[in-house]
Amino acid sequence: DHAKRINIAIDGPAGAGKSTVARNVARRFGYLYIDTGAMYRTVTLAALRHGIDVRDEARLEKLVAELDIGLEPGDPVQHVYLNGEDVTEAIRSREVTQSVSAVAAAEAVRLRLAELQRDLAAGKGVVMDGRDIGSHVLPSAELKVFLTASVEQRALRRYKEIGDRQGIPLETLEREIAERDRMDEQRKISPLVRAEDAVLLDSTRLSIDEVVDIIANFGRTKLGEA
Ligand code: DC
Repeated sequence: DHAKRINIAIDGPAGAGKSTVARNVARRFGYLYIDTGAMYRTVTLAALRHGIDVRDEARLEKLVAELDIGLEPGDPVQHVYLNGEDVTEAIRSREVTQSVSAVAAAEAVRLRLAELQRDLAAGKGVVMDGRDIGSHVLPSAELKVFLTASVEQRALRRYKEIGDRQGIPLETLEREIAERDRMDEQRKISPLVRAEDAVLLDSTRLSIDEVVDIIANFGRTKLGEA
């Protein structure tokens, strides 16, 4: 039955290749790819623009209640809008990257974004990547993958992606990734954790295509069972 659709959750630490993998898996199935990290980044950009201290939960709560975050899924690029303005590029800045973990630790922010994410997945047929999708946002997703790779490998990938261009040394990226892992794993509300029923996939020695093949195979099995 080709009408059957499943939801696929892909979680894991920064730089494990989640977004590229998730985008490609979505393409294989003809599903929507949704990058939830982009939503946390959008709130962070808004906070920085308003001069809000990213550890000030009360102000973040007020901010997130007033924000209009628009997500336009697309291939190859998902566009993100902040009060109507296209911020797809702006949310990738170093400043945003360095502050986003603090913003993502705020309960009010997580509640609001999880709600938006569940709405987006309600019709099924989405591949969603993040930190807490399998464990918290979509606990009933038919397929959950926890994608990891060594810190060294993840830093190297980031370096090839942006470090070269932005002139950031590899060691700096490695330190920043380790720090972001620590904050994402240790926050009180829905921390980065592998859901019990998530498939653990270590991509340190795998190519993107190999990872996509493995997940697509799991997906086809789940579709057969659905
Ligand atoms: O995937 P990314 O690097 O763009 O995510 C940015 C930050 O957002 C990351 O440091 C943790 C946070 N995040 C989160 O807490 N929960 C999610 N579902 C997605 C991202």
